[in-house]
Parts: sequence; structure tokens; C-alpha cells
Amino acid sequence: MEQLLTALRAVAEPTRLRLVVLCARGELTVTELTQILGQSQPRVSRHLKLLCEAGLLDRFREGSWVFYRLSQSGPAGALARQLVAACDDADPTIALDLQRLSAIKRQRADLASAYFRENADQWHRIRSLYVDEREVEAALIEIIAATDPRDLLDIGTGTGRMLEVLAPRVERALGIDQSREMLSIARVNLERAGLENGLVRLGDMYQLALPDASFDAVVIHQVLHYADRPAAAIAEAARVLRPTGVLVIVDFAPHTLEFLRDEHAHRRLGFSDVEVAEWCTAAGLDPASPHHLPGDPLTVVIWTAHRHAATYSALTEDLRTRASTALLEGELH
Ligand SMILES: C[S@@+](CC[C@H](N)C(=O)[O-])C[C@H]1O[C@@H](n2cnc3c(N)ncnc32)[C@H](O)[C@@H]1O
Repeated sequence: MEQLLTALRAVAEPTRLRLVVLCARGELTVTELTQILGQSQPRVSRHLKLLCEAGLLDRFREGSWVFYRLSQSGPAGALARQLVAACDDADPTIALDLQRLSAIKRQRADLASAYFRENADQWHRIRSLYVDEREVEAALIEIIAATDPRDLLDIGTGTGRMLEVLAPRVERALGIDQSREMLSIARVNLERAGLENGLVRLGDMYQLALPDASFDAVVIHQVLHYADRPAAAIAEAARVLRPTGVLVIVDFAPHTLEFLRDEHAHRRLGFSDVEVAEWCTAAGLDPASPHHLPGDPLTVVIWTAHRHAATYSALTEDLRTRASTALLEGELH
């Protein structure tokens, strides 16, 4: 009860309630929140500190950036979610905050698209700067072969490399990406490789235009570090996974290479095993032990999570609700 009272006291102030509503829309930095609220950074930081101490928000530091997001656990976290649901997006103050958030996200998305547009033709070279592709691909092939999927979805397919590697092992493979430039290269690559069962389409990982439970395997390879809502991207991937299906996420372990943010549009500097496992569990999946492929300086991690038939039907409704929330949030992009 004491915890709840502290949380209620902390949020009973207009700016702090606005901060809670904003942090429900993604992982945001203090700079972004300051821009939206139009208040000084020390003032916003003070509010954020109070909200974190009360358990309503989580704060995490990654290199020189600090992110805030809605608390994932505890009674204060549950209260935060209820408050967000009770707030009316049409309220003039909230509507203006959301509009400003939308503008910031658009600006960020434009920067990332410009990066992908400019680097589409040399993406393979950039990738090979920090991962041993053959090792990662061999491990992926092994995981996919063990689950023997009929169809596979590659989210953020880029130049279609994952489709080239995995499509020969399935009946149907679909790659989606938000960059037309990447997709045009992927089409050339698929044609050159003679992969008639591989298709690519324009799409957004937060809002897949695909039915529930429509794929046996979903791959998210080197995409999540661009996401401002990695948990929502995982929930959306889980939604399209069939009962007994497998989700495979490949990304970096936590690192400190800030230049990847400045020069290569990365938002997150890798992910911990614990946070990926939590997101998978929240999406109704059972995470397996991650596979680490240490490199210099970056370590690649393969996280695998399975949907079990028994948990699927119980979770379907919850996932649908979350998917429609993701849909609403997607409109902010
Ligand atoms: C680093 S590339 C990786 C491509 C591919 N998975 C690979 O490993 O070769 C990241 C890709 O994610 C795509 N991407 C980023 N945000 C996305 C989103 N919201 N929806 C769909 N694709 C997205 C980018 O356009 C880019 O092609």
C-alpha cells in the first residue's frame, strides 16, 4: 500500500502525468522529453527522478544516452499502465505532446531512412566490419533446420541476405522492410540467387500487414538496435507466429561503440539477455538460452524463443489488444 501511495503522490502533478503518458509510447531520452515538454532539462530530470523512485518509470543508461520507459513490473508499473489507459489522447495538452512526439519520431525515422538510402548498396561491406557473417549464418541455419518451418518471415530484411540463406530451407519466405532502396537491392539479390519462393514487401515492423499466426518462423536480424520500441516489435513478431513457431532475434550484446549511433543511425547499443528474455516472455513466448558469438569489438547474440501451442490460445486475446495498441502507436511514426 505504501508503494502505491508513493506512486500516486508522484504522479499527481501535470508534468509528471504527461511524462508517464509519453514514456508509454516508447523508450525516450531526456533530451527528447525536454523538447516535447518545452521545459528546462534540470526540471524535466527532477520530475523523471521522482517518477523512477516511485517505480512508475524505469531508467537505463546506455553509453552517453539515458532512456526512460514505463516500468515493466511491480504495483507502480501496473498503476502507470492504468493511468495511461485512463488518459484521453484527445485532451489538448496530451494531444499536443503526442503531436510533438510524432514530429520527433518522424525526424528520427527520416534520418534513419536517409542512412539506409545512402548505404543500401554497400550494406554488405558495412555489416562485415563487425560480424563474422558465416558463423552467424551457420548457427541460424542450424536453428531453422531444427524447427523445420514451412514458412518464414524476415523482419527488416534489408538487402535480403537472410532470405538468401534461409529461403532454400522453407517452402515460402517473406521479407519486409520500410526502405524501398533496401528492397530494390533485395529483389535483385533474390533473383540472382534464383529464389522463386522468396518475396519482399514494404512494411513496418510495428504494424505488420499480416494475419495472426501466419508463420512458423520469424527472424529479426540486426534490426532491433534501430528500434525505439523493441518490446513492441517483438510483440508484433510474436503475433504473426503460429503455435509451436520460433522467433529468432540476432543483435549485439551490450557495447560502448557510440560511433554506431553517430554514424550508423543505431539507437540502442546492444541488448542484455535479461531484457530480451523479458520482452519475449511478455509477448507470450518461451525464451531459450541465448547463443553468444564473441567478436572484436562486438559480440553477436542469437536469442531464440518458442511459442507453445498451450500458451497460444490463452494469450491470443492479450496479444490482439497489444497489437492494436502497437497499431495506434504506429500512427505516430
Ligand atoms: C541493418 S539492416 C539489416 C538488414 C538485414 N536484416 C540483414 O541483417 O542483412 C536493418 C534494416 O531494418 C530496416 N528497418 C528499420 N526499421 C524498420 C521498421 N520499423 N520496419 C521495417 N524495417 C525496418 C531498415 O530499413 C534496414 O533495412
